[in-house]
Amino acid sequence: AVSQQAAPRLLEWYDRLARVLPWRAPPGTPPMDPYRVWLSEIMLQQTTVAAVKSYFQRFTALWPTVQALAAADEAQVMAEWAGLGYYARARNLVACARRVAAAGGFPDRREGLAALPGIGPYTSAAIAAIAFDRPETVVDGNVERVVSRLFAVQTPLPAARRELTELASTLTPQTRPGDFAQAMMDLGATICTPRNPACAICPLMELCAARAQGIAPELPRRAPK
Ligand code: ADE
Repeated sequence: AVSQQAAPRLLEWYDRLARVLPWRAPPGTPPMDPYRVWLSEIMLQQTTVAAVKSYFQRFTALWPTVQALAAADEAQVMAEWAGLGYYARARNLVACARRVAAAGGFPDRREGLAALPGIGPYTSAAIAAIAFDRPETVVDGNVERVVSRLFAVQTPLPAARRELTELASTLTPQTRPGDFAQAMMDLGATICTPRNPACAICPLMELCAARAQGIAPELPRRAPK
């Protein structure tokens, strides 16, 4: 029931209100090229959308393709990365670009992507879904919050992680999984926020168990430290 209704409602909302982001194809259009999806997902690990935008624009202006980035001087890449933090990401970025360029392009499945430097379980699922329309489930902190509320999961984090991933996978549609993943991110960032969620304008309001119980702002629960 909820699992079947969530994706169509969320996609209808995304079609009208998707955030316009430089690494994002408009809803319902063919995916952005894998190089831009990969670069954005690496930059967005531990860094906000607002902070990433100008770096993404500069990187893609300097290095418009993965081949160009593979041929870059590593010291120049590190210099352009300055300010984003977590510098291991920048070193892995160059190593990954060189492997991908040598292979003639990005792998188009999660397993192949996850074997590349700097690409873990989250990022491999995100690239497979967003760049290649694979029905992978993409679970970050925003998605954990949305799912914990939709199903009123009372198990505290981090113990709830497997349960939330399993529930999230029941929501993932076979059609438009990339748009669905990005719609979940937008919902978590703009409506299903940590404090003061905007339940009154949420496209999933009628499906949300936490909303029905009046406990949306309390979820997800966290184990005391
Ligand atoms: N955070 C991580 N990946 C993202 C994406 N593709 N769009 C918006 N926010 C994100």
